[in-house]
Amino acid sequence: MTARIIDGKAFAAGLRARVGEGAAGFARAAGRKPGLAVVLVGEDPASSVYVRSKGKATLAAGMESFEHRLPADTDSATLLALVDRLNADDAVDGILVQLPLPAHIDERAVIARIDPAKDVDGFHPVNAGRLATGLDALVPCTPLGCLMLLKDAHPHLAGLEAVVIGRSNIVGKPMGQLLLRESCTVTMTHSRTRDIFAHVRQADILVAAVGIPGFVQKEWIKPGATVIDVGINRTDAGLVGDVAADAAEVAGAITPVPGGVGPMTIAVLLRNTLVAAGRRAG
Ligand code: GUN
Repeated sequence: MTARIIDGKAFAAGLRARVGEGAAGFARAAGRKPGLAVVLVGEDPASSVYVRSKGKATLAAGMESFEHRLPADTDSATLLALVDRLNADDAVDGILVQLPLPAHIDERAVIARIDPAKDVDGFHPVNAGRLATGLDALVPCTPLGCLMLLKDAHPHLAGLEAVVIGRSNIVGKPMGQLLLRESCTVTMTHSRTRDIFAHVRQADILVAAVGIPGFVQKEWIKPGATVIDVGINRTDAGLVGDVAADAAEVAGAITPVPGGVGPMTIAVLLRNTLVAAGRRAG
């Protein structure tokens, strides 16, 4: 058996089109477009590329894009003052501060300064707490994108065994919360887990977010499982995921790398911006 390939690129294109329609409706009703501000500190080449693609996608969805590029030696006070200005700016519905920040800046303090209503990354402790307690929240883009793909492949997630590999605040932890909200039985595994294989082997749903190329081996996968590969690892062989390519011989459905989870992140960011705009206006 060969797994069905979950086409994240096509799903993301559909989502972006729907968000574009929503943004046009918002603009008609509100007399202005939804606005997303993206802040980049320093010149990390990968971050620079991401920020440029976010700006382009924002404009393509019929939204305003506000890009703020600050030098690498920007001090915390200057960055916090910019966040304050964006919080107070009515044309800005969403604020994203690109991570990682330079080492001399306290990332947590910057995230905590963003108005939770504009926190389209869903990283603010208020949004993390709201997600964990079942309240309406802005949810981190990558795990929400994973859940959308999962629900498309698997309309009934309740009762399934879900295993998440990785416990970051950006992907693993919110992913676990989202799967719990869908009534999965959730196991969180990480670098200190004693026998990851034994857990993964039980998984009907596997989400791998470890950042190690080919970490999950074919033999670990339960036959027929749905596998979401969050890894985007640059290697000499090109972009590869956290799951070995031959896992597709065992899985029931699997996201490819590239073209799986990757394209979902920006599409969900646009969706979150539209949601934030609607809530602020409503
Ligand atoms: N750096 C890598 N991924 C992300 C993300 O989703 N949001 C932000 N703000 N920075 C990132």
